[in-house]
Amino acid sequence: MATFLLVVVPILSLLPLSLSTLTMQPSETETLFQVMESMSSDRDWRVSNPDPCSPGQSWPGIECKPGSDNFLHVTRLDFGFGANPKCMQNATFPSLIFTLPHLQSLFFLNCFNKRRTSLSFPVLNDTSPNSYNSLQQLSLKSNPSLTGRIPAEISFFKSLQVLTLSQNNFSGNIPDSITSLTSLVHLDLSYNSLTGAVPVHIGQLFNLAGLDLSYNSLSGSIPTSIGNLGQLQKLDLSSNKLSGTIPEAVRSLSYLSFLALNNNRLSGKLPNGFYQLHNLQYFIMDDNPMFVPLPSEIGNLTRLQELRLANSGYSGSIPISFTLLTNLSTLSLENNKLTGEIPVGLTNLGKMYHLNLSRNMLNGVVPFTAGFVKRLGRNLDLSGNTGLCINGSDGYYDRADVGVGLCGANASSTGTSLNSAVENESNGGSIRILGFCQFGICSNIMGALGFWGLYCYLL
Ligand SMILES: *[C@@H]1O[C@H](CO)[C@@H](O)[C@H](O)[C@H]1NC(C)=O
Ligand SMILES: *[C@@H]1O[C@H](CO)[C@@H](O)[C@H](O)[C@H]1NC(C)=O
Ligand SMILES: *[C@@H]1O[C@H](CO)[C@@H](O)[C@H](O)[C@H]1NC(C)=O
Ligand SMILES: *[C@@H]1O[C@H](CO)[C@@H](O)[C@H](O)[C@H]1NC(C)=O
Ligand SMILES: *[C@@H]1O[C@H](CO)[C@@H](O)[C@H](O)[C@H]1NC(C)=O
Ligand SMILES: *[C@@H]1O[C@H](CO)[C@@H](O)[C@H](O)[C@H]1NC(C)=O
Ligand SMILES: *[C@@H]1O[C@H](CO)[C@@H](O)[C@H](O)[C@H]1NC(C)=O
Ligand SMILES: *[C@@H]1O[C@H](CO)[C@@H](O)[C@H](O)[C@H]1NC(C)=O
Ligand SMILES: *[C@@H]1O[C@H](CO)[C@@H](O)[C@H](O)[C@H]1NC(C)=O
Repeated sequence: MATFLLVVVPILSLLPLSLSTLTMQPSETETLFQVMESMSSDRDWRVSNPDPCSPGQSWPGIECKPGSDNFLHVTRLDFGFGANPKCMQNATFPSLIFTLPHLQSLFFLNCFNKRRTSLSFPVLNDTSPNSYNSLQQLSLKSNPSLTGRIPAEISFFKSLQVLTLSQNNFSGNIPDSITSLTSLVHLDLSYNSLTGAVPVHIGQLFNLAGLDLSYNSLSGSIPTSIGNLGQLQKLDLSSNKLSGTIPEAVRSLSYLSFLALNNNRLSGKLPNGFYQLHNLQYFIMDDNPMFVPLPSEIGNLTRLQELRLANSGYSGSIPISFTLLTNLSTLSLENNKLTGEIPVGLTNLGKMYHLNLSRNMLNGVVPFTAGFVKRLGRNLDLSGNTGLCINGSDGYYDRADVGVGLCGANASSTGTSLNSAVENESNGGSIRILGFCQFGICSNIMGALGFWGLYCYLL
């Protein structure tokens, strides 16, 4: 026991001693104060926190670490969120901040709101201190008045692993130089006004796990080099103006689990390589002018949980292979040109909770079991398919929710007979007419008003 104390006590007493004796270099402290004064009037920083890296003197949003030079250095600064320093209304981007030589992480969240400012870099000479080798994470998010281009100088930050410039007001091209930041693991430029093409050499960022360029105005095609991003797990290029087809090279993205390409101008067949994305769980590609038959090979992507291909001109029938997608919880195929019957096997997809097949040209008897219909409830939408009908002995459908009428004795397969529509209104005939009201105009008023249903049909 005695030896234990002898060994431990000196170490315990040394630790606080050594920490409290470390200080900052005066030049770094001065730079920090200048940055704080230009950004935040929360307090008089020099008076309230004269030695900002010392224990007890720091504030939420600053982090310091001892360097090999036995000085304390600022390694992280956060502005604008929670307990972190609030940004003054007239604050502009403090390029001086990049002369803090040990800065590793920098966050400006909801900071630049009123006064227009741009991301800029200090003028330096060869001996000036800078963050170019130290910065690993730069996050400028939700700054509506942060305007102008993403500077090509962004590539100076050789160690950058996370670059988030989401929800600002950046415009112009994505600088090609960004593709030299080969340490990047996450790149998020979403929700800006960026134009031009996705950089051709984006594939050089071979460490990327997440790439989000969504909600910009990027045009041109998806570069083939994207296939070199062998670590990619999430790719979001949605809501741009991208055209052409998905490149065959995507076959190499073997870790990809989330792919969103919705709301673009992509067209044509999905390449064969696409069906080798065996880790894909989310495939969101609504709102593209595809105009091809719905590919049965999608049934090979057995991990899919969410499949959204609405509003894209798909034709043909719903492939039987879709019934192999046992983990599927959401299937959105509304507003296409799908024909034929609903595959019976869809009813066995035990994790499904949202199925929208509305506004197609499907026909036949709706094949779902009571359990399936009950589980999906209002998340089952079959409206706007003229040829679908429900077997009258399947009493478990809420036909108003599902949007399909009963099969008439005379119209069990096509539902296109005018006679079948008017012959028996008390038997759900008016709801059957729902199928003729392609744009849902009549679905609410029809109920008992067989006349309006007929009117719709004649339209
Ligand atoms: C910004 O506003 C603060 C008060 O909120 C004022 O003290 C400061 O001088 C202003 N700075 C500039 C550059 O306008
Ligand atoms: C370079 O910059 C440092 C600090 O930024 C300054 O002290 C030094 O005088 C400058 N040297 C030259 C040659 O301009
Ligand atoms: C966003 O940038 C545009 C020009 O690119 C400019 O006209 C607009 O004022 C900026 N918005 C804000 C909030 O500064
Ligand atoms: C789909 O899977 C089947 C069986 O595993 C395989 O034979 C076929 O080549 C796959 N198709 C594509 C396009 O990958
Ligand atoms: C379905 O999901 C479960 C649980 O997330 C997972 O264990 C299983 O491997 C998945 N099935 C397929 C075919 O990916
Ligand atoms: C199905 O898609 C249509 C668009 O065609 C939409 O109006 C409707 O709300 C969707 N139904 C469900 C249950 O999500
Ligand atoms: C409706 O269901 C009953 C009972 O399951 C069956 O005998 C009949 O053939 C079905 N009718 C149609 C049109 O599918
Ligand atoms: C089918 O319609 C014809 C007239 O189109 C009618 O004579 C016949 O009775 C109907 N059959 C049934 C089962 O309602
Ligand atoms: C209409 O349906 C009711 C009840 O479902 C039935 O009693 C009646 O015979 C049907 N009438 C015709 C014309 O089919």
